[in-house]
Amino acid sequence: MNRAFQDKALGATGIRLKNAFIKAATFEGMYEHGLPTRALTDHHVAMAKGAIALTTVSYGAVSPEGRTFPHQMYIHDKSLEKLVKLAYEVHQAGGKVCMQLTHCGYFSKNKEVKNPMAPSRIFNKYGAMSGIIFSREMTSEDMAAVSEDFAIAALRLKEAGFDAVEIHMGHGYLLSQFLSPRTNKRKDEYGGSIENRSRFPLELLKNVIDKTGKDFPVLVKLNLSDGFRNGFSLDDCKYVARALEKHGCTAIVLSGGFTSKTPFYLMRGKIPLRGMLKNGSNLAEKLTIAFFGPLIIRKFRFEENFFLDQAREIRKAVKMPLVYLGGVDSRKGIEEILDAGFDFIAIARALIHDPEFLLKLGDGRIDRSACTRCNQCVVEMDRDGIRCVL
Ligand SMILES: Cc1cc2nc3c(=O)[nH]c(=O)nc-3n(C[C@H](O)[C@H](O)[C@H](O)COP(=O)(O)O)c2cc1C
Repeated sequence: MNRAFQDKALGATGIRLKNAFIKAATFEGMYEHGLPTRALTDHHVAMAKGAIALTTVSYGAVSPEGRTFPHQMYIHDKSLEKLVKLAYEVHQAGGKVCMQLTHCGYFSKNKEVKNPMAPSRIFNKYGAMSGIIFSREMTSEDMAAVSEDFAIAALRLKEAGFDAVEIHMGHGYLLSQFLSPRTNKRKDEYGGSIENRSRFPLELLKNVIDKTGKDFPVLVKLNLSDGFRNGFSLDDCKYVARALEKHGCTAIVLSGGFTSKTPFYLMRGKIPLRGMLKNGSNLAEKLTIAFFGPLIIRKFRFEENFFLDQAREIRKAVKMPLVYLGGVDSRKGIEEILDAGFDFIAIARALIHDPEFLLKLGDGRIDRSACTRCNQCVVEMDRDGIRCVL
């Protein structure tokens, strides 16, 4: 475990992290009228004080249309005013800070956007009850504009004092919709083979790196697999990981799942149906969850380090820095991840439960997290902001 607490380089960028631990992006829900609140800063300062080397602020939409919900934050002058202070305070607390950059694609409940963009025309099961029924296929102009939005957002965050960005290519958001054969039905050079499906995400990555420079870390969150048949597969992931390495990506954060189809594949554990029912945005949605929830939301059993077997395959495929994520729970489990050759370790729920998780593991006060993976934190993020209910 001591080896994880040694300072190390974040790829070839020249940036060093004080240890191997990263706080994974978890949608904080700490916004007022789309602007970050004081609570968001406090949340990330607590992570830095808890020995996390790099804390990731979740879901910085690159444009207003890139938001799944209209109250979410997007990167613009007003949010940046608050984010400058957040970055400063995390640095004062001894940590570094990364922003996850996202575009939701068709995964939208944002009524301000009637026809959300996606690789193809797709039925939006998730937003249908909010009246956002179909997406429209993106044109080459749309793609150029979205790529520019990501690159400009990354540059502005660099100027605001952020130490890194993480481009979200997983979990069923726009870039993951391009990568997945289930949602990318394009007939042009951006659809079909994995080489074609990954073309737009890779062009976008190149644009971000060109704008921000080789000294600025650009991480990518990528699915190992979508978690359903005929989706993005582990073989697809190997191909994309190798391509990311060639394109100069700083590190890959490995995850999995598709929020609109297999939301609990990425987390595992209990499905907090009662809370999800309360959060339903209208009667139709509440009724659907009440009657069909147990049938349509697939359950996946929680196991410590649940993505490790798949992630090992990617470790064999590339030499670049890899971040392990998924079910990190104990000192023994962390040793196992380090032995498997991962460079960094990202953690979500164990830190939501207790931001001092690592300090306590480090000094022997605990051997493992007391988080029960009840997943009530998923419900809380849509109420007053993410917190552990235990
Ligand atoms: C409440 C909650 C919110 C999440 N929000 C995001 C998010 O905004 N972006 C993202 O990439 N992953 C999100 N995740 C997934 C986590 O980053 C992580 O992949 C997952 O929780 C597994 O890690 P863990 O076992 O350490 O919790 C979220 C997870 C939870 C529990």
